[in-house]
Amino acid sequence: MAIEKVAVIGAGTMGNGIAQVFAQQGFHVLMIDIKKEFVERGMGAVDKSLSRLLKKEKITEDDKSRILERISTSTKIADAGDGQLVVEAVFEDFDAKTAIFKELDGVCGEDVIFASNTSSISITALGAASGRPDRFIGMHFMNPVPVMKLVEIIRGLATSDSTTETISDLSEKLLKTPIEVNDYPGFIANRILMPMINEACFCLMEGVAKAEAIDGIMKLGMAHPMGPLALADLIGLDICLNILRVLHDGLGDPKYRPCPLLVKNVEAGYLGRKSGKGFFDYSG
Ligand code: 3HC
Repeated sequence: MAIEKVAVIGAGTMGNGIAQVFAQQGFHVLMIDIKKEFVERGMGAVDKSLSRLLKKEKITEDDKSRILERISTSTKIADAGDGQLVVEAVFEDFDAKTAIFKELDGVCGEDVIFASNTSSISITALGAASGRPDRFIGMHFMNPVPVMKLVEIIRGLATSDSTTETISDLSEKLLKTPIEVNDYPGFIANRILMPMINEACFCLMEGVAKAEAIDGIMKLGMAHPMGPLALADLIGLDICLNILRVLHDGLGDPKYRPCPLLVKNVEAGYLGRKSGKGFFDYSG
């Protein structure tokens, strides 16, 4: 089945980035969120991101208009019925995601593939709840979606070879590099990234070094584009904490215990860039 139209559920940072990369490669996209203001904000983010590309002369004014025209919006899941793929990118809550997939199962054709951009919820469990476990897969984009090359492709226990192949080929059409992994807590990206971020939080909490020094060491010493604390601020400290808890609960190893300083920041509402303050200050 050729994929030409895609429904993206969720117009937040990841959802609007995913909608953008599909539209840039000629796919028709329906971006859905529960409120008109959320989809409008999502379209605003796509517009801003395309304006960057325009300013750098990577696309023309015409390209930008055509890309934007390929994205339509809705506030109803029921409108997702006429595409060949659904990519879900809503907040990390198992019950919320399964409720969405159950509703989608009722409105989408039998052969429509469901993909989740979850950063850490079990693809096997979501697939089982979706009613179509063989046509269910993890399609984990990285933030910022328009820039990062990787799509981590997560096979649930029941995901079929044909679903995996279709989604890997599709990721290449998006000019991304798909890398296939099996479904264990945190998959690969976050299983390796989050302990590093957590360790940076412990270093800060224990006063081993200041935030700028910790990030400076990892940037200059390890050639990381940004330090672990700035990256945590970009991802969102609440999301980092949530993923660490999934690793801790799912693997049962104390090495994944979230750093108390990370917990305290989240409790204080210091969530990173999105709240104006995290390990660094973004109020300016
Ligand atoms: N849309 C389009 N282009 C964008 C963009 C956006 N939203 N954000 C940045 N860019 C482009 C810029 O235009 C620029 O393009 P150019 O190289 O052609 O000039 C390029 O990206 C670099 O941007 P900047 O010059 O503004 O800034 P930096 O050089 O500091 O790069 C960064 C910013 C790309 C965010 C870089 O710091 C980086 O790669 N950081 C690491 C990001 C990372 O690790 N992401 C993974 C997070 S983990 C995750 O997502 C998993 C989840 O489950 C938690």
